[in-house]
Amino acid sequence: MNTLIQDCINNKFSKTPIWLMRQAGRYLPEFRSIREKNQDFIKLCLNTKLSSQITIQPITRFDFDAAIVFSDILLVPYALGQQVSFKKDFGPNLQKIDLKILNEVKKESFLKKLNPVYETIKETKTKLSANNKDTIGFVGAPWTLLLYMLNRKSPKGGNFNVFQKDKFVHDIMLKLDKFLKIHIEAQIKSGASIIQIFDSWAGLLPEKDLEYFVYKPIKSLVDFIRQKESISICFPRNINNYKKFVENVNPDIVSIDYNIDPSTIRDTIDITVQGGLDPKILLQNKDIVRNEVTKYLKTFDKKRYIFNLGHGVLPDTNPDMVKYLVDVVRSFSGQ
Ligand code: CP3
Repeated sequence: MNTLIQDCINNKFSKTPIWLMRQAGRYLPEFRSIREKNQDFIKLCLNTKLSSQITIQPITRFDFDAAIVFSDILLVPYALGQQVSFKKDFGPNLQKIDLKILNEVKKESFLKKLNPVYETIKETKTKLSANNKDTIGFVGAPWTLLLYMLNRKSPKGGNFNVFQKDKFVHDIMLKLDKFLKIHIEAQIKSGASIIQIFDSWAGLLPEKDLEYFVYKPIKSLVDFIRQKESISICFPRNINNYKKFVENVNPDIVSIDYNIDPSTIRDTIDITVQGGLDPKILLQNKDIVRNEVTKYLKTFDKKRYIFNLGHGVLPDTNPDMVKYLVDVVRSFSGQ
């Protein structure tokens, strides 16, 4: 039996599927209580027992239609030999890239380091497939990973330098293409039915650099996912021209941010669309939430649309409001 998302992309729409980016984590008290006892974030991501528990937490609470595996995009630089830590109230902190280490990483050692993630997917899959829900694996897009690897911290607030398309950058992009495919393939083999590609910082690039840093490298991953008979979702956050992105990359599903007008997307894009709602709306009252959610649902009129946010759930979100959001989406499509 197909999942709601599979039906949606095949134009056999019955109900609006719903899941949320960053649904497993920061805003949930049951996550926070595990996190308090596990200070090392990377270690927590590599603890299969706890990670699969965290992955399922939002499904138990809200009965979302898909689970996104609890992990992080920065596990890839970590498995490529770059040290990554997360500092409280600062975010990720990466050590300088050591090219000698990077150039010597082998497929086997990379897969061995990330094996707990694959085990988490297997466990999640076993728990979920009986309920006919998707298990979503993911990667950071090459550009966003390159940015963290060279900038060594979040580029938030303009905190980053522009990179030249020189040999050093080119070599890292090639390395990322190779190892992201290894990571994607292992996630699919372990049971991920969908792979989402997060290009969280695509919006920082000028138009002239999109081809090299965004379209080409993401298309390479999307083609690979299709070859493996899985489904791709691309989230090129904050780019100006989603239509051009879709024409160049040809993913199965495109996830939109909240700066773009959803009716323009509906009128210009011919594939399944996901997301859009500003996560800050969930910090408002119920009337506002209902109005804004209904706006997205009405715009797409139950056609090839997956409900999600325009970026991740914010840490200050009240879980009761997420419950309300799910109720609004389900009652709109008569579920
Ligand atoms: O529910 C889910 O979506 C699954 C888990 C998930 C996490 N990170 C867990 C996490 C996913 C899909 C990600 C993706 C991710 N990680 C992205 C792309 C999406 C986006 O938000 O733009 C990025 C850029 C990262 C890198 C990263 N990881 C940052 C910048 C931070 C610190 C700030 C923050 O978002 O909390 C993290 C840490 C992180 N990743 C946490 C969680 C639950 C918080 C860890 C903590 O408790 O301190």
